[in-house]
Amino acid sequence: MNAQALIDTAKMLVANCKGLLAMDESNPTCNKRFAKLSIPQMVEARRAYRELIITTPGLGESISGVILYDETIRQRKKDGTSFIKVINDAGIIPGIKVDTGAKDMAAYPGEKITEGLDGLRARLQEYSQMGARFAKWRAVIAVGEGVPSRGCLEANAQALARYAALCQEAGLVPVVEPEVLMDGGHPLERCNEVTAEVLHTVFDQLDTQRVMLEGMILKPNMILPGLTCPRQEAVDEVADATVTCLLRVVPAAVPGIAFLSGGQSGELASARLNAMNVRFKARLPWSLAFSFARAIQQPALELWQGKEAHVLAAQQALYHRAKCNRAARRGEYNAAMETSSTSIAQVAKIAA
Ligand code: 13P
Repeated sequence: MNAQALIDTAKMLVANCKGLLAMDESNPTCNKRFAKLSIPQMVEARRAYRELIITTPGLGESISGVILYDETIRQRKKDGTSFIKVINDAGIIPGIKVDTGAKDMAAYPGEKITEGLDGLRARLQEYSQMGARFAKWRAVIAVGEGVPSRGCLEANAQALARYAALCQEAGLVPVVEPEVLMDGGHPLERCNEVTAEVLHTVFDQLDTQRVMLEGMILKPNMILPGLTCPRQEAVDEVADATVTCLLRVVPAAVPGIAFLSGGQSGELASARLNAMNVRFKARLPWSLAFSFARAIQQPALELWQGKEAHVLAAQQALYHRAKCNRAARRGEYNAAMETSSTSIAQVAKIAA
């Protein structure tokens, strides 16, 4: 393991106020999102969509790294150029999702355990040879009556830590993603309590499995009320709760925290990240960045609709959301950005 190379890559992933773009939806997830918009659920449509994303002009201004999926990392542009080359040429670091999905956990009804450790060493080697420099593994934690259980937290934390150790052995920076889901009617305090317990358990296991904290990125959820909770806290309250929780739990050696969006709208995700950086940036030991999928991609996907003629508009929408999130990292995002020339409303006119 080349420790310095891992540290350098981890730092680069959160440098210059950029962040990650997750475009690693599994085929079933990608197909589900396509189906809602009547886009064909075929390999060629998935390839064309991912080509649209990575060829977005100027994407590298705001995006430091993209997370690919096993199908995507092997794909090429229509003109034959490999996706990996296109990404590198854009000044973006290629990464890869390596878990094989969250499955029902035996003996723990309603809870999930993420699989993918078997054969992982060989897969990491292959991805590294293909050009990936970082990897992602997502654990999924539900909140409910008597849930999450210790059994679920410990099993998922151990899997995350074993994955992270294998990544570092292979020279890939692990993006460690324990996601506490937004589904449910629980209040923000419950998300706070669960997230703190999850992160304590994860960092305990990362330590036990000898993961070098300087060479990893944490990808957590923000501290939010459940989606159907009647009380939805204001942006600043979410920012305060999230940063307070992370300050208590995440060691200062970790170079960056890159949030998932988890189903928040693009605007809210940007506003909340912005508030965190406005209110706390000067006194944080780590960078607060983003690793969004839906909060960057959704407007672009809705504009594209699988139509070649809409590619440009979709790319503009994608560029816009990426730019808003870079502004949020600087604490310079504001609602006026949403009505600027690259806003969704403007580019929708081009697509019409
Ligand atoms: P969302 O930002 O859509 O939650 O996706 C992030 C991600 O990578 C999930 O694993």
